[in-house]
Amino acid sequence: MDVTQAQVDEAAEALRVQLGGREPTVGLVLGSGLTSGTLGLTDPEEIPMSSIPHLPRPTVEGHGSSWIAGKLADRAVLVAAGRVHRYEGVSLGRATFGVRVLAAVGCRYLVVTNAAGGIAESFRPGTLMRISDHLNFLGDSPLVGPHESSFGDRFVDMTHVYDPEWGERVERFANLKQIPLESGTYAACLGPQYETPAEIRFLRTVGADAVGMSTVPEVIVARQCGMRIFGLSLISNAAAGVTGEALSHDEVIEAGRAAAKPLAALIRGVVGITAELSSGG
Ligand code: HPA
Repeated sequence: MDVTQAQVDEAAEALRVQLGGREPTVGLVLGSGLTSGTLGLTDPEEIPMSSIPHLPRPTVEGHGSSWIAGKLADRAVLVAAGRVHRYEGVSLGRATFGVRVLAAVGCRYLVVTNAAGGIAESFRPGTLMRISDHLNFLGDSPLVGPHESSFGDRFVDMTHVYDPEWGERVERFANLKQIPLESGTYAACLGPQYETPAEIRFLRTVGADAVGMSTVPEVIVARQCGMRIFGLSLISNAAAGVTGEALSHDEVIEAGRAAAKPLAALIRGVVGITAELSSGG
């Protein structure tokens, strides 16, 4: 792996200085078109990504260049507003560096969100899907390369990687608040081109409900770091060939904006629930 413990320590140290005494326990990684502004953080403080050494910066439109520390649902959170993808030419070890830093400063919980193409027939743009499992079609892993033993296991267990207790509680919360919430399997493809209709038929056959180009690497690293994980996809478009319409990045960004309200309400619940999980607040 091209990431070392020394780099993580250095980045965590710099971040702690920026945090100035805040002690976030929940990290959030926001996907395309989802902004920290819509989450309604209280007491927000912007931390430029450039102030954290070794952290790669996103190059894609719709992904921000700062982290935001603040409070959400009475929990201290740290929001990575924007992520780096493998298709940007960055190794997955490096692309997921930020997750190691979140863990190093004390985030025991990770919420990962993304915009995704809907494969399940019933999914429409705006559908929210709790990720219950994933398929890694990136052809790569952030754990490839020499093993840094202080990072955790070399052979990371991926059973129940999306925390079942957290997921069930969120389902109940969504029901109570009447926020429509589906659940399903997320497939990660390399991109950056969208899929062909044949690829989508293949993905449907092997059990995918939604498709995107992210999230899986962060989840693998978070698992190695021992974090508890909740994943959420916003269906931004019907996947290729489902409706016959062409796909565009603008449509993906716009869907994020359009779904901001229910998404923010759900994420507030997702974060608040961490205080009730069995491992204790
Ligand atoms: N495919 C891959 N990634 C995506 C899509 C899609 O249809 N929509 C948003 N991200």
